[in-house]
Amino acid sequence: MSAFVKAFTLKDAPSLIEHLLPVQKLSAESYKEQMAVQGKTLTALGSYWKGRKPLILSKACVLGCLLPATSDAKRDLEIFEMLMSMDDQSIAARWPRKPKPRDILATVGIARVADFFVSDPPLLLPESSPVDWSNPELEKVKVFWRDDLSIAGRRQLEAQMLPKVPYRTLVDQADRAEEVFDTVDKHIWVAVNRHLGTEAQSIQELMEQLGIMRFGHRPRVADTFCGSGQIPFEAARLGCDVYASDLNPVACMLTWGAFNIVGGDEQTRRKLSADQDELVRRVHEQIDALEVETDGKGWRAKVFLYCVEARCPQSGWMVPLLPTLMISKGNRVVAELVPDVKRKRYDIAIHSGVEDKRFKNAAQGTVRTDGPGQDPYMVHAVAGTEYRTKISTLRGDYRNDDGTIGNRLRQWDKRDIKPTPDDIFQERVYCIQWMRPKAKGKSDDYKFCAITPEDLTRERKVDEFMAGHLATWQAKGWIPDMRIEPGDKTDEPIRTRGWTHWHHLFNPRQLLLGGLVNQMSQGHLKLGMAQVLNSSSRLTRWSLGDGDGRTGGVKQAFDNQALNTLFNYGCRGSRFSVDLIKLRLKSFPLRPNLKVSIKCHSAVDLAEPLDIFITDPPYGDAVKYEEILEYFIAWLRKNPPAEFADWVWDSRRSLAIKGEDEDFRRGMVAAYKRMAECMPDNGIQVIMFTHQSGSIWADMANIVWACGLQVTAAWYVVTETESALRQGSNVKGTVLLVLRRRNGNRKTTRDELAWEIQEEVEAQVRTLTGLNQDAKGLYRDENVFEDADIQMAGYAAALRTLTRYAIIDGRDMTVEAIRPRVKGETTFVDGLIAFAVDTANQCLVPQGIAKAHWDHFTGPERFYLKLIDLEAKGLKTLDNYQNFAKAFKVRDFRALMASSKANKARVKSAIEFGKSEISEGSELHESTLRAALYALMELVKNVDSSEVLAHLTLNVRDYYSSQNQRELVIELANYLSRKLETLRPDEAAAARVLRELVKGQRLG
Ligand SMILES: C[S@@+](CC[C@H](N)C(=O)[O-])C[C@H]1O[C@@H](n2cnc3c(N)ncnc32)[C@H](O)[C@@H]1O
Repeated sequence: MSAFVKAFTLKDAPSLIEHLLPVQKLSAESYKEQMAVQGKTLTALGSYWKGRKPLILSKACVLGCLLPATSDAKRDLEIFEMLMSMDDQSIAARWPRKPKPRDILATVGIARVADFFVSDPPLLLPESSPVDWSNPELEKVKVFWRDDLSIAGRRQLEAQMLPKVPYRTLVDQADRAEEVFDTVDKHIWVAVNRHLGTEAQSIQELMEQLGIMRFGHRPRVADTFCGSGQIPFEAARLGCDVYASDLNPVACMLTWGAFNIVGGDEQTRRKLSADQDELVRRVHEQIDALEVETDGKGWRAKVFLYCVEARCPQSGWMVPLLPTLMISKGNRVVAELVPDVKRKRYDIAIHSGVEDKRFKNAAQGTVRTDGPGQDPYMVHAVAGTEYRTKISTLRGDYRNDDGTIGNRLRQWDKRDIKPTPDDIFQERVYCIQWMRPKAKGKSDDYKFCAITPEDLTRERKVDEFMAGHLATWQAKGWIPDMRIEPGDKTDEPIRTRGWTHWHHLFNPRQLLLGGLVNQMSQGHLKLGMAQVLNSSSRLTRWSLGDGDGRTGGVKQAFDNQALNTLFNYGCRGSRFSVDLIKLRLKSFPLRPNLKVSIKCHSAVDLAEPLDIFITDPPYGDAVKYEEILEYFIAWLRKNPPAEFADWVWDSRRSLAIKGEDEDFRRGMVAAYKRMAECMPDNGIQVIMFTHQSGSIWADMANIVWACGLQVTAAWYVVTETESALRQGSNVKGTVLLVLRRRNGNRKTTRDELAWEIQEEVEAQVRTLTGLNQDAKGLYRDENVFEDADIQMAGYAAALRTLTRYAIIDGRDMTVEAIRPRVKGETTFVDGLIAFAVDTANQCLVPQGIAKAHWDHFTGPERFYLKLIDLEAKGLKTLDNYQNFAKAFKVRDFRALMASSKANKARVKSAIEFGKSEISEGSELHESTLRAALYALMELVKNVDSSEVLAHLTLNVRDYYSSQNQRELVIELANYLSRKLETLRPDEAAAARVLRELVKGQRLG
């Protein structure tokens, strides 16, 4: 340990994250990481895991908890950014192309060039730069960095070569910090140590030293909802001891993989690689011996395409259910249904390289959703007569007395691996994509072919093999025998196919392959096995291949968060499946002496002292981990490898925290109470949750209060990617709620609270706006905090004040907070929170409007004015609109919007409003703002000014009797004239005219 560092010197210091967090930059970094998709550090361990939190966010939380907030906020911020590799010099280190010395000298002004560079021939460089290289004497001179130049010195110059663009654009072009993990922070240690009084030369040393200064030992970071391990892995990579637990054993397995494989040392990785090769070799050997994937003429099956087939009740024909007859875009392959009139069925011919028109005509298959209600139909035609039958009719759907829907599908038996001949839904293989090495070179030839009798013989061989081995393999735990428990997501396979056991989701080929892999793999190979299972099952969609030249491919089973059954699917041949065992993984060896625990238990069963909790609980979660991951649990539960044998191989659905109702709150309170009990007095927590419904504040405040915790800060980071943004109208970000233990039993009254909250919120807003000012210059004119961040911090300040108290108006808040809710009723706590949030909103007056006037505006007016202010600053992300709509209680903010695109949102202009939103149904009905916008619209359209004024006096209530109303119009016109100056100059000019018209109006 360093001689400098003394235990407990920071014991009671507030944490940096309680005072500031550069959320805008963090959002840009999170976005960059999420966009890396499969390139993300831990994703390759299990791409089926949904809802990974960005590592960079975890890093910010760990650092933010350990670093102290000092009296020099600006320097705190700079140091934090250095540690996050967000400062300019780190960006220079992350820049993929390093600037050449000659270019630097041509651009950057340096007083003593010799301090940085040497030349060949020597001593030819000018004393100072910029250098004019067109000088013929300098033409042949080569320039090099000085050998003895510090890395900080070099990066300082390189940073000056970065393009002068917003941070988001810079990050877009830079590498991620973790891609240059070992070198990126080389320049920061002198500055960091000076500011913090530490003596560290690496982030791990710094974490250890800060841990000692706060807690007396290396910090112990915990995540008791660890999921895929994104939070605990990052904490371990930063050098903290880590406790990771989750109720779900698949989560534990992924976290184990993060620590032991991605975080494993070189030797571990070498062994993994050798074991993977050996496993692949042995599985191939077994499959090859069965001769079920080769045609004996040098071709090997790459993908088998299967579809459901059903008898048309009207025509009596067996019809393959194919949503499209297209098979491959790249090779222009289509299927043709060739009627076999005698047997009342179709043969399926395959044609490759068809011409454009024929390919396009194949778009429509035998399953369509273009009928009424968009229910899927089976459609086919015999001798010119078209037959349409709803799929639900085929299934025999009926309504039970209790209102639930049943159907006539046979429920599959544990011994079934394929439909029995009487089943409504049959299954057939209809096409095979074959491959064969080219005569020359390393690549392969591919072809799509129809099914031959020999192919069917091979199919039978697999079926017989699996039927013969099923019971033994199930008994040994090599393939699943577990029932599918009904549930939100698990109902679908049961309802739509009659599948009752998890192995029914895999066809005989897939069971054969999965069973071989399972029986031959030890712990560290099980992660790859899960990837194999995810890549080939009856749920793996065949995609036609997007873009030219793509032949098509088999998607993952967990393409989304559901267990969607398919009419047709792709089954990978073993060469294209087993090889997925060889995960393409990054390597970040963890320090050998770290204490890392992974436990599989419910969060309430925690029993270890821990300093920092960073958790991402299942808040109103769309992902039903406890259901969908049974897909993998079913394969592992009976015969788990030694490494995972201590975990409970059951999803224990009843213990999972889920939903948003009473049970959810009770579960959360129990979990967080336990964490609070396991934390020292100076412990700290960060809870991450998705900001999605207006009730989160009330929910979270209730939970926090009931656990004896108090809020000390909250931040909002946009963590979702463009594609996620596009999917839903609700833009999602992550709220970070920072918590401490609440000490004592402080009492207050509601009246006193009002003042306190107001002061606290105002102080918070002042601090952050002040920091924005202080940091100007640091940030190419960008704000550290945008208005939405300040709003969020305002809410947090309100919650901080509230949750400080244990007793309000004589009521015990821990009891109030867990009082069961009656639907539609507003509880005492809801009332307090709404009041706190309102107070916070009141403090967010846009510049250019007097507070006294602001108080007169309605919510929708404030929304419009606030958002115009943000638009004027170039901010156009939809989440701002959503957040402020909630804040200002606008029922339907979209009525006020001209565009609701994720990154190009904007409110309507006066012209776009036209004569809309005036009537009683509108939230702007009879508002002064609406009257003013109407006047602007008329002025832009050159309506005579006396007429404009006449309309205005009618549209603004009490126009003549209230001086205040006219002042409001003048203020509005003035405000809009300034905000619209660049956005809509014609409306800005009209606003100026309006202002002068009203000012100059002679009344009476
Ligand atoms: C939102 S996820 C965490 C995701 C994780 N942060 C990541 O980046 O992958 C929530 C986790 O809580 C777990 N969980 C649900 N109820 C639990 C309980 N009662 N105790 C412990 N873990 C639970 C789920 O299994 C799931 O892994």
